[in-house]
Amino acid sequence: MVRYVLLALLSTVTATDPCGATRCDTAACACGCECGTPDDPGLCYTPKTLLSKEPCAIEHHSPTIKRTVLVTGATGRTGSLIYKRMVAAGHDTRAFVRSADKARKVLGCSLCDESEGIYLGNVSSVTQLERAALGTSIVAIAVGVSGFGPQNVTKAVEFVGVQNTVAALAQPSNIASYGVDGLRVLFVSSMGTTLPAPPKEAGGSILFWKLNAEAFISASGLSFAIVKPGGLLMTAGDNSTLLVGKDDALFKVNPPVVSRDDVARVVVASLEFPFSVRLDIVSKPGPPTTDVNALLKETLYPWQQGAH
Ligand SMILES: *[C@@H]1O[C@H](CO)[C@@H](O)[C@H](O)[C@H]1NC(C)=O
Ligand SMILES: *[C@@H]1O[C@H](CO)[C@@H](O)[C@H](O)[C@H]1NC(C)=O
Ligand SMILES: *[C@@H]1O[C@H](CO)[C@@H](O)[C@H](O)[C@H]1NC(C)=O
Repeated sequence: MVRYVLLALLSTVTATDPCGATRCDTAACACGCECGTPDDPGLCYTPKTLLSKEPCAIEHHSPTIKRTVLVTGATGRTGSLIYKRMVAAGHDTRAFVRSADKARKVLGCSLCDESEGIYLGNVSSVTQLERAALGTSIVAIAVGVSGFGPQNVTKAVEFVGVQNTVAALAQPSNIASYGVDGLRVLFVSSMGTTLPAPPKEAGGSILFWKLNAEAFISASGLSFAIVKPGGLLMTAGDNSTLLVGKDDALFKVNPPVVSRDDVARVVVASLEFPFSVRLDIVSKPGPPTTDVNALLKETLYPWQQGAH
C-alpha cells in the first residue's frame, strides 16, 4: 500500500517523465530510473553502495528496491511493527522469533516456519542466527528484555545478542554476495544513554548495555542506522510531527514520547539512507511528518552534509 501511495505521488511529476507516468521520472529519481508498467513501478537507479557520497545518493530514497531483511525480536511490540512495515514496503522479510505460536498470533503466519520466513531461535545462538541471516543484506534488531531481570540475562540479550546478530549478518557467504559495504544494521535502541546512572524507570542498566551495543555496531565496519526513541507509545503512526536530535537534547520536549509505529516507520526508511546515522526521536502533536528521508538528513553532522 505504501508503494502505491508513493507511486501516486511520483506520477504527479510527469513533465519530464520519459516513461509516460508508468515510472517515476528523473525529478523523483535523482540518479535516473527505469520505465515500468502500471503494475510494477520498476526501480530508481541508486549508487553502488549505501555509503556512496555521490550527491544524488542522498536526494533519493526508493522503497521499491527489494532487499532480503531479517527482523529480530519480530514478535515484540516494536519489532512486529517493523516486520509489517518491511513487508508493506515490498522487502523479502524474515522474522527471528522464539515462539512459533506467538508469531502466528502477532505476525499472521500460518505454518510459521522457514517456508514462510519465520526462523525459530534466540539471540544467544549464533548458529540459529546465521541460519536465519544467510542470504540477507539487512538486519533490523528489535530485541530487548521486557522489564528488569538478572544482570547476566540483560547483558546476554541487549549486548551479546546484538554482537551475535551482527556477526551472523556478516557471515562469509553474505560478504561474498553483498560485500561489506552492502550490509546494513538497523538497531532500535533508546534515548537516555547520556545519563551516567539512569533511574530504573528510565531504563536502568538496560541503557548501559544498549549503549555498549551501539558502540559495537558503530565500530563494526558495517553501515548502520541507530534509532533511539524516547518513551514508547502504542498510538497510531503517521499522525504526529516527528522531531530528531542527538545526545538526549530532546528530553526538553514534554513529554518526550513517540509512537512505536513511527519508530518502525523511521527504521524502515533508514534502510536505504546512504549514510550511517544515530539519532534520537520523539514526536509532538501537529501535522504528520511526511518526508522521513528529510528527517534523517537533519541528523547528519555538518561535515557529512558537505561531503562529496
Ligand atoms: C538460547 O539458545 C541457546 C543455544 O542454542 C540455548 O543454550 C539456550 O538454552 C537458549 N535460551 C533460551 C532462553 O531459549
Ligand atoms: C544467569 O545466571 C544464572 C545464575 O547464575 C544462571 O542460572 C543463568 O543460566 C544465567 N543466564 C545467562 C543467560 O547467562
Ligand atoms: C491523531 O492525533 C490526534 C491528536 O493530535 C488525535 O486526536 C487523534 O486521535 C489521532 N488519530 C489516531 C488515529 O490515533
